[in-house]
Amino acid sequence: MGTDLHELLRSLRVWDVADLPTFDPAAAPADPLALFTTWFAQAVAAGQVEPHTMSLATADEEGLPDVRTVMLHGADTSGWSFASHAGSGKGRQLAARPYAALGFYWPAQARQVRVRGPVTAAPSAESQADLHARSTGALAAALTGRQSEVLSSLEELARESQAAWERAQLEPDAPVPSWTLYRLRPDTVEFFQGDAARRHVRLVYRRTEEEGRTQGWAKQLLWP
Ligand SMILES: Cc1cc2nc3c(=O)[nH]c(=O)nc-3n(C[C@H](O)[C@H](O)[C@H](O)COP(=O)(O)O)c2cc1C
Repeated sequence: MGTDLHELLRSLRVWDVADLPTFDPAAAPADPLALFTTWFAQAVAAGQVEPHTMSLATADEEGLPDVRTVMLHGADTSGWSFASHAGSGKGRQLAARPYAALGFYWPAQARQVRVRGPVTAAPSAESQADLHARSTGALAAALTGRQSEVLSSLEELARESQAAWERAQLEPDAPVPSWTLYRLRPDTVEFFQGDAARRHVRLVYRRTEEEGRTQGWAKQLLWP
């Protein structure tokens, strides 16, 4: 007997969490980084599972979209950062079109954050330092390499992964030349607070930057 997908879908709800937070956009800070940092800490405090994972959308040479999950490595005045292999699908797409979007969804608080902007690759030394500050597993995964190439068998992966784990344990500073820290410097950052009555609040920050002048942000509400 098969699962009735449509029945299952109709049985599920969103914005059904007791005590959803309210969001007053009039009290929002001038800079989206400050609001992101607050919302991130609140997601952690609310017990949101893996709040540091995000969807990373890129486009290929033809402009066709792609998306996958990656980890957030940091967010500061230089941008939101993540890391991957330069030779992976996303790495090649970012080389061809250095622009991306990030999507966070924190259902524990019915919150979504969207970030769009140009992406730059950090210098190699910085990428390696970022990798070596992470776990042995992260280094082993990076050392396994060949991300997004066709794999001939799971046995081959098991062999390569075992060797990578052994090297990562023996050599915690082993270099992984293709490993790259990317920074997305936002043009826009949008915050969405879900509401049980569907009066969702959307606040978008757009960067206002003029040649030689101090940068700032303009804020606007959007219809949900
Ligand atoms: C929770 C989670 C976290 C992930 N974090 C990363 C990451 O930080 N970097 C990365 O390269 N891949 C990460 N991946 C794997 C990617 O989703 C993806 O499979 C891989 O990067 C290859 O994507 P590509 O072919 O588009 O380059 C993660 C996957 C999941 C499910």
